[in-house]
Amino acid sequence: MRAVTSARRIHNLALIGFMGSGKSSVGRLVANSLHFDYLDTDQVIEFRAHKTISEIFRQEGEPAFREWERRVVEELLHRTKTVISTGGGLPTNEANLASLKTHALVVCLWASPETLFERVRTHTHRPLLEEPDPLAKIRLLLAEREAFYRQADVLVNTEMRSPREVATQVIHQFHMAHAAHR
Ligand code: S3P
Repeated sequence: MRAVTSARRIHNLALIGFMGSGKSSVGRLVANSLHFDYLDTDQVIEFRAHKTISEIFRQEGEPAFREWERRVVEELLHRTKTVISTGGGLPTNEANLASLKTHALVVCLWASPETLFERVRTHTHRPLLEEPDPLAKIRLLLAEREAFYRQADVLVNTEMRSPREVATQVIHQFHMAHAAHR
């Protein structure tokens, strides 16, 4: 675990990580256990835009989607007691990550490209994986994004672990960080 500087305030918990890393399922479990609100940045964007993520990508393009993400992250600054599940590409904007770190412990859920592929292969709502060879695309994107994901405060390996086991570990990390930064 990376040292969290003493100036940090840990009001919230943000989950980052690649598509299929388990942010939504783990995030809901963690929120229930901590009695926190649960917020999914993709859901907020779909609600605001009155469109699905796929429609935003198709009609407005990826840069417009990233701008939606940036605006949602800005709005999170005043939240407390919230588990925030983020879209897989959100931390590739350094400003998003820096902003999350001002109020949340940032936890990255990690898995290998093969495991991620197994988890997402039957899903159809992820425009970036609508490719002839989704596994190759996962490998490519993961390599591009690894340096961003590694900037999380905590990296949790989700391989061979159930969402509940991962949630337990995330909650433990949160309690430790929260106790140290009251
Ligand atoms: C994306 C991940 C998706 C969603 C969008 C783009 C990405 O969220 O934000 O399709 O760039 O990795 P999940 O990580 O929740 O699937």
